[in-house]
Amino acid sequence: MKTVEQAQELIHRQVRVKLGFFPTPIHKLEKVSQDTGVELYIKREDFSGMTLFGGNKMRKLEYLLGDAQAKGCDTVITYGATQSNHAMETATAARKCGMKPILYLAALVEPKEEDIRANLLLDTILGAEIHILPTLPGELMADTFVRCRGQVEERIAELEREGHKVYDMPSGGSTAVGVVGYADSFVETMGQLRDQGIHPDYFFTSTGTGGTLAGLSAGKALLGSDVKLIGIQVSPKDPEGYPKHVAGLANQALERIGAEERTDLSQFVCDPNYFAPGYEMPSKAANDDIRYLARSEGLFTDPVYSGKGFHGLMEYIRDGRIPKGSTVVYFHTGGTTALFSEAEIVGDLTRI
Ligand SMILES: Cc1ncc(COP(=O)(O)O)c(C=O)c1O
Repeated sequence: MKTVEQAQELIHRQVRVKLGFFPTPIHKLEKVSQDTGVELYIKREDFSGMTLFGGNKMRKLEYLLGDAQAKGCDTVITYGATQSNHAMETATAARKCGMKPILYLAALVEPKEEDIRANLLLDTILGAEIHILPTLPGELMADTFVRCRGQVEERIAELEREGHKVYDMPSGGSTAVGVVGYADSFVETMGQLRDQGIHPDYFFTSTGTGGTLAGLSAGKALLGSDVKLIGIQVSPKDPEGYPKHVAGLANQALERIGAEERTDLSQFVCDPNYFAPGYEMPSKAANDDIRYLARSEGLFTDPVYSGKGFHGLMEYIRDGRIPKGSTVVYFHTGGTTALFSEAEIVGDLTRI
């Protein structure tokens, strides 16, 4: 069990490039706290930089691109949906580091050539090499990437023949290297709360590829914290395999930084109850809470990630699973570019 300072010293020994602006702010949501009887704070990971469109990926990318540079790579390949925040943020970070970004994007929502929007527009401005992968009906995104692996491998072989060195980064940047960035976030947040004399009961985040939740649970293990960690899923996952995957990633990250602490399945929750009808498919109830947060605090969340996560948190408060008087931190992981994406993703937010 380590102090905040000891944990930071250990984490910051890892190779890393400076991309974002840290620490990100944390502040109270006064109106929502009044409405609900819960002391609700928000950790502004959406303010991570390095552009206006930052979010949780910047923490991972500092370590991932540090690793890529240390390995002498000049090209970064990554994966996501056509409106992937991770893919867009990777492209910004790669450009800053002088690397070529190559994106393989699954067309869960078909982009319209004459009306390219949101993250795909930013990818285009960044001049990323973009490969759109058609999806089969009902196919999960991870399966699209498996089905199209041959195409990626051919491109990697071609780049290598041309003398390039490729860093092949999985979707979400959720490797042991990237997860270290989120252990960093947990420790930073606990330091900020300690300095304000606040003891948190619950941390909430949305969870997709699992790296953010894994990093938070690695940080929790490092500090021996008793905060309850809840991940609101944004997509369907194998109910047994997914938490094991998250714990595995967390422990690999702890091992990587040379910490002796470990986490296990009892240390966090993966809640699958709030992503319906599906990934990148808007939920009426989550959109109601996106409007509630905007109208009570003037803050934006998005219909794919941060809005569904916030909705999950509000449901825990409404049904009493979070008792009144509790202190809760919501990790705003970014993603608000989705508000400017296709109508299929935005849903009824266009109506009052
Ligand atoms: C805005 C936003 N929030 C949350 C997540 C979930 O993070 P992770 O993939 O690390 O679980 C992502 C990425 O997938 C994201 O883009």
